[in-house]
Amino acid sequence: MDKQILKDTIKQVFSNGKGILAMDESNPTCNKRFAANGIPETEEMRRKYRQLIVSTPGLNESIGGAILSDETIRQKTDDGQPMADLLTHAGIIPGIKVDMSTTSLSGFPNEKITEGLDGLRERLAEYKKVGARFAKWRAVITIGNDIPTRACIKANVNALTMYATLCQEADIVPIVEPEILMDGNHSMQRCYEVTEEVLKTLFYHLYEFKVDFEGMILKPNMVIAGKESEERNSVDAVAQATANCLLASVPATVPAIAFLSGGQSPQKACEHLNAINKNFKDQLPWIVAFSFARAIQQPCLDAWKGRDSNIEFAQKLLYHRAKLSTVARLGTYNSKMEDLR
Ligand code: 13P
Repeated sequence: MDKQILKDTIKQVFSNGKGILAMDESNPTCNKRFAANGIPETEEMRRKYRQLIVSTPGLNESIGGAILSDETIRQKTDDGQPMADLLTHAGIIPGIKVDMSTTSLSGFPNEKITEGLDGLRERLAEYKKVGARFAKWRAVITIGNDIPTRACIKANVNALTMYATLCQEADIVPIVEPEILMDGNHSMQRCYEVTEEVLKTLFYHLYEFKVDFEGMILKPNMVIAGKESEERNSVDAVAQATANCLLASVPATVPAIAFLSGGQSPQKACEHLNAINKNFKDQLPWIVAFSFARAIQQPCLDAWKGRDSNIEFAQKLLYHRAKLSTVARLGTYNSKMEDLR
């Protein structure tokens, strides 16, 4: 492990207020979002869509790193350029999702475990050759009656840890993503408690396995009530709960936290990120940024609808959302900026 390489990658990804664009949806997830827009669920349409994203003019003003899927990192643009090269030339570091998605955790109903450790060392070496300098692994924790169980948290944290050690061995920065889902009717307080337990367990394991905290990025959920909850919390209350939870659980030596958006609307995700940075700027030891997928992409995908004639407008929307996310990272966002002129 070359610690300096890891640090340099992180510095470059988050330079000048930039953040990460997650565009690594698995084929089934991407297809589901295509289907909702009447877009054919084919490899060629996924290629066209990812090409639209990586060729968006000015994307590099707000995006320092983009997470690709295995399919996308092997695909080329119409003129034969690998997608990863196009990003690299624009100054956007390509990253790669290396987990192989989730499956049921045997013996624990309604809980999931993420797969993908087999052969990971070899896959990382291969991805590095095609330009990937960071990676992502997503663990999924569900809140419900009597879940998450300790067993589920431990199993997922173990997998995240083994993944992180293999990434760092290869000089690839691990994005460590323990996502506590917004699905359900739980309160913000319950989300706080589960997030805190998961993060504390995670960092204890990472420490035990000698993961270099300075050479990783944490990708957590914000602390928020479940989607089906009747509880309504103000933007400032969510920012407060999230900042408190992270301050209680994340070592100060971790250089950067990049939130997932988790199904929040793009505007809400920006409002929350902005309030965390604005209200707590003197207390947070880390860069607090974004690694959004839906909160950056959704308006763009809805506008594209699979038609070439919509590409230009769809790219404008993508550029706009990426820009607003950066402004929120700096704590200078306001809702008037939502107007697209
Ligand atoms: P969302 O921002 O849509 O939650 O996706 C982030 C992500 O990469 C999930 O792994």
